[in-house]
Parts: sequence; structure tokens; C-alpha cells
Amino acid sequence: MRDAIDKPPLPPAPPGARPMNYRHAFHAGNPADVMKHAALARVLVHLARKDTPFRVLDTHAGAGLYDLGGTNAQKTGEAEAGIERILKADLAAPAAALLAPYLDAVRRLRAESGPRLYPGSPALALALSRPQDRFLFCELHKEEKAKLDRRTASDSRVKVMMQDGWQAVRAHLPPRERRGLVLIDPPFEEQGEFKRLLDALKEGHERFATGTFMLWYPIKDLRAVDAFRRDVAQLRLPKTLRVELDFAEVRSLDTLSGSGLIIVNPPFTLQDEMRTILTALAPHLSRDGKGRSRVSWLVAE
Ligand SMILES: C[S@@+](CC[C@H](N)C(=O)[O-])C[C@H]1O[C@@H](n2cnc3c(N)ncnc32)[C@H](O)[C@@H]1O
Repeated sequence: MRDAIDKPPLPPAPPGARPMNYRHAFHAGNPADVMKHAALARVLVHLARKDTPFRVLDTHAGAGLYDLGGTNAQKTGEAEAGIERILKADLAAPAAALLAPYLDAVRRLRAESGPRLYPGSPALALALSRPQDRFLFCELHKEEKAKLDRRTASDSRVKVMMQDGWQAVRAHLPPRERRGLVLIDPPFEEQGEFKRLLDALKEGHERFATGTFMLWYPIKDLRAVDAFRRDVAQLRLPKTLRVELDFAEVRSLDTLSGSGLIIVNPPFTLQDEMRTILTALAPHLSRDGKGRSRVSWLVAE
């Protein structure tokens, strides 16, 4: 069978159809990124335990690498309350061991390429992969895509496409490898992102039932988050894990108070691993020094 990745790309959204204002450089390495990338690293560690190749489809990939000393990151300073704090933290041994693949990848990147660099999901996935693994990164913003192209140009395992991530779920699943991860991490700048996430999960799972799906969502509007969780549970997909971390008190519908992940088909130890990790990270990543995390099944086996 021809690999779905080789199909001609669907046309990108017409220019100007949607404003593409979001730049992840303002937020890279913030508490939400740390939580997401800690989980991403654990999933990749488990995928790499079998010799057979896996594929990563990252539907909203971003630029792949961020300079936390750069103007955009410095404007918000968000990484100071995220990765910079975690790199200096004295974490309990079990959590430190589980976080080592992620934090070592950040440290290695800094030692090799620059002291304030931070890996986005593509760079982290590549850092935790093997020669036999394959990657499809979709990014719709022209400049971010150009950066990602430059950063991955020498790696023949990678394909970068300027394709709508929502369409990519339909166009590229299942992957030829029949195992792997689909990361769906939209910017949540537009109305309807929860609905698009839900539809993408449903369609993606219909095409690639054995794949692991990881969906990121913001915790701002608690009612919207409740409804989303309920809708995901109603899909009745087997093994659906909910992972959430609160960073701050809920203040308004526009302020991020935490972030969440839906993980379908997680590695079977992930629930315990994320509990250990988030219990250790929560006090460091939250404004009040306490933080709350929730790791539970929306749908069990
Ligand atoms: C939250 S960022 C991704 C961060 C990245 N996954 C990481 O963890 O490092 C979302 C990215 O999606 C891009 N984007 C927005 N709408 C998109 C779409 N419909 N398809 C693909 N990419 C899109 C944005 O330009 C932005 O770079």
C-alpha cells in the first residue's frame, strides 16, 4: 500500500481566510508547554521501546525550536515560570527519573546549540526518536513553516507541509507504520477549536484506531472545558485519559488558568507516570506554589 504521506497535499486555506496572529515564541517553555512536553516525551519513550518504526503526525507543529532569550519570549517572560524554573528545581527522585528524557533533551540542545534554546514538539520528538522513525509536521504559518523547514532540512526522516492540520488528520492517517502518535495542538485563537478538536479526534481514530492521540486544550472557560470532556467521553473511544494542571485561580474567560491533555490509547503506565510527574511539577508551575493536577480516565479500557 502506498503510504498516505505520499498523497498530493490538499490545498492550504486561501490566503487571508483566517488571521494567523499566533506565534508560539511568546509562550514557548511556559507551564502549559512543560506539561504538554513532559507527557509527549513519556509517550515517545514508550513508543521507542519496540524496535518497529513509529510515525509522529504533529498537526500544528510551530517553528520547532525557540530562543527564550529572543525578543518575543522576553516580552512575556512566560518561560521563567515554566521550563527555567523546572530546570533548577529539586524534584523528587521518581519524578526526576520520569522527566529525565525530556529535561536531558532540553539540556543537550542548550549545550550543543545555544544556552537559551527550547525545543518545540518537533525538536523534542526528533530528539527522542530512532533512525527508523518518521515524522510529518504540518504548519500553516509561512514564517514558522520556513523555520521548521530550515531546522529539519538535513533529516530525511522528516516531511514538513504547509497544510491545514485539521485536514492533515484526514489526509495522512493511518500511517504506513501503523503505530505512532498524532499530536493536535492548535493555538485556540479562533472560535470553534474545541469542536474542531473533537471532530479531528473522531475522524483520526476512525482511520487509525491503534494510534495514540494527544490533544491539547486551554483551561480558561470552565464550562467549555466541562462540555469538551463530556463530548470526548461520549465518543466512547477506549482508553481515554484526561490530564490537567491548574497554574492559577480562574479569573476570567480570557485568562489561562491551566491546561489539559486528552490522550487516547496512552501507554499503559502513563496514568501513574503523569500523576507522579504532575504532583512534583505542580508546586513549581503554579502561581500559589500549590497547584492542582487531575489525571483520570474519561473512558477506561
Ligand atoms: C500551539 S502552537 C504549536 C506548538 C507546538 N506543537 C509545540 O508544542 O512546540 C500552534 C501552531 O499551529 C499553527 N497553526 C494555526 N492554525 C493552523 C492550522 N489550521 N493548521 C496547521 N497549523 C496551524 C500556528 O501557526 C502555530 O505555530
